[in-house]
Amino acid sequence: MTNNVTLTRFIIEQQCELPEASGTFTLLLNNIVTACKQIAQKVSRGQLIGVLGSADSENVQGEVQKKLDIITNDIMVNALNWTGHLAGMASEEIDDFIPIPPQYKKGKYLVLFDPLDGSSNIDINLAVGTIFSVLRCREAVEPELEDFLRKGSEQVCAGFVIYGPSTMLVLTTGHGVNGFTLDQDIGEFILTHPNMRIPEETQEFAINMSNQRFWESPVQRYIEECLQGKEGERGKDFNMRWVASFVADVYRILTRGGVFLYPLDNRDPSKPAKLRLMYEANPMAFIIEQAGGLCSTGRERILDIKPDGVHQRVPVVLGSKNEVERIVDYHLSEAGES
Ligand code: F6P
Repeated sequence: MTNNVTLTRFIIEQQCELPEASGTFTLLLNNIVTACKQIAQKVSRGQLIGVLGSADSENVQGEVQKKLDIITNDIMVNALNWTGHLAGMASEEIDDFIPIPPQYKKGKYLVLFDPLDGSSNIDINLAVGTIFSVLRCREAVEPELEDFLRKGSEQVCAGFVIYGPSTMLVLTTGHGVNGFTLDQDIGEFILTHPNMRIPEETQEFAINMSNQRFWESPVQRYIEECLQGKEGERGKDFNMRWVASFVADVYRILTRGGVFLYPLDNRDPSKPAKLRLMYEANPMAFIIEQAGGLCSTGRERILDIKPDGVHQRVPVVLGSKNEVERIVDYHLSEAGES
């Protein structure tokens, strides 16, 4: 424990070091966090309040929606659209970006979010989460699509809340990564994991092995060498974990190291990768890099990608520095670039 430093105190103390800070960002973050506390409450009450199961609808990306996908999206939108801090929002669940209703003031930030990541896990009572990314916008304007399509390196803040045995918030504003645990008794996030760092070396990988036949050869090579263990090229045994909930897999890597891959595959040419750049890969890449790790497509740093759409998908390789560098080397040497 770190002397009961609440999230608000932590952010205000950080902002004191920035003379240009107006306090708007602290208020915005408080609104996001209030929404996440409401989501935590719905997730933990589960079937007691009838929120589990399918909504019998599909989102814009053709994925079957759970009731909680819709409920959590509404919670996020309703907690943020009136605040006066935002110029607009974008959500995994909504095709176009979400404007601020005309009766409310517009502000200088954009928020992009996945309101319930890993929602296929909700009915089996495993960890799920909310992921968010904050960008700066031209002030008090009606934003256009171009305002949202910014590189991940331009993020002001990124974070996720994991609804697991404890509810935790992991946050970066570009000055390292800090973890906060929700104290249910007082309803506050308390700083419990200051300055999270990812070990550079690891013996643990995470990948959905059922897709193996669809991967490209650099990924085949990397996983094959891990599986050979002590007797093979790597000279050490590897362990494998796959929660199928991005927030949970990333949280594990932040706490004990490891590498996560959702690589390019040739299953469906219209969807060469699975994870979405703007509200999954970018915020996680910002967090991972700030914790000393790396995040790449295998060929390019995720944070350097110029997006071409709010729901764009990208291959993701992230985690411990040495492993990600090795995987990138395998991609480059295949292309004859190293
Ligand atoms: O993007 C949604 C998501 O559920 C992630 O949270 C997770 O990492 C991944 O998809 C799981 O994919 P799969 O269903 O292929 O295991």
